[in-house]
Amino acid sequence: MSHYLGLIERYRDRLPVTPGMRIISLVEGDTPLVPLDNLARAAGHDVKIYAKFEGLNPTGSFKDRGMTMAVTQAVHEGTQAVICASTGNTSASAAAYAARAGIRSFVLIPDGKIALGKLAQAMIQGAVVIQIQGNFDDGMRIVKDMADAGPLAIVNSINPYRLQGQKTAAFEIVDALGRAPDYHCIPVGNAGNISAYWTGFSEYAGVRPATAACAWCDDVCRFERPAVCASRPVMVGYQAAGAAPFLRGGPVADPETVATAIRIGNPQSWDLAWAAVRESGGWFAELTDEEILATQKLLAEREGVFCEPASAISVGGMLRDIEAGRIKSGSVITCTLTGHGLKDPDTAIRQSQGQVLQIRAESDLVKRAILDRL
Ligand code: F0G
Repeated sequence: MSHYLGLIERYRDRLPVTPGMRIISLVEGDTPLVPLDNLARAAGHDVKIYAKFEGLNPTGSFKDRGMTMAVTQAVHEGTQAVICASTGNTSASAAAYAARAGIRSFVLIPDGKIALGKLAQAMIQGAVVIQIQGNFDDGMRIVKDMADAGPLAIVNSINPYRLQGQKTAAFEIVDALGRAPDYHCIPVGNAGNISAYWTGFSEYAGVRPATAACAWCDDVCRFERPAVCASRPVMVGYQAAGAAPFLRGGPVADPETVATAIRIGNPQSWDLAWAAVRESGGWFAELTDEEILATQKLLAEREGVFCEPASAISVGGMLRDIEAGRIKSGSVITCTLTGHGLKDPDTAIRQSQGQVLQIRAESDLVKRAILDRL
């Protein structure tokens, strides 16, 4: 067996690629499905919980799945530059894949509301970083206005190639478990990822979703193929309370949350996300910033898994829904941890304050401090 070469090579027959196409890849995908046995035991109800740890992609988030497809297509079309609006991770990923392809990248980010690691990535990878005095939704509006500005490819998730790449995470989950999970829990911001997962799970189940993730889906999605698994999961989408348009029934004007990655008030994949939730019998729910941060800490302390705040929301919401009986006992549950904790060191340090002991450099003092805490 040849070594792993990235998700396009692995799932080539289910993706919009043609022979001879130059594949722009950082060997993304193939991320681990980490059992969260400590949390499952604490939750009771005989559940089995797995985290799809997407923070272990090359740029530290799930965006790389979509970006390998979107940039491969952009290069194929002869595009000289990519552009996106971003709360951080998309810009980091776009910059990386553009660098690899040898094309330019322009990224619009909200002024002062992006985690430091993400900004560092975009900058060192050579993106032209445009900080706008507005939020992600303003950036998205401007990027859409740039569609005709020149040979630029928009690589936000309104680009259907992005969702095609991202659907492979659902394939990997089914391939790893040998079945579909009963529930899939996922953070929702711009709502592309939940739509992509639903397309992926549906494709593997041999079922065409009522609203597929792109108009030309039938050309590439192999819904008619024999099913790889018998069922599809219930899809559960979680939003931050201050940025929860799916819970409010429409756009939110001034979204605010500590989970800056999902600080979005006007999701672009509104209909697709609703279709995923409705068709699967799922739901949307919201978590406060306090609940989000508490879950980020819980995952780190109990499982050794360090994800960014926006990612922790899927686990926080899931644990609450298990307790409430909304997620049934005996279930197999998967949660997407969308991005790595190292993306946002400031938030992690801020909420861990007081845990660093200041001690003179003397063995006796250090020994006493340790023994006091054993
Ligand atoms: N989690 C993280 C870590 C994200 O960066 C994002 C989106 C989401 C969840 C939500 O995914 O938008 O598909 O519903 N980040 C985008 C960005 C908006 O610009 O990096 P979604």
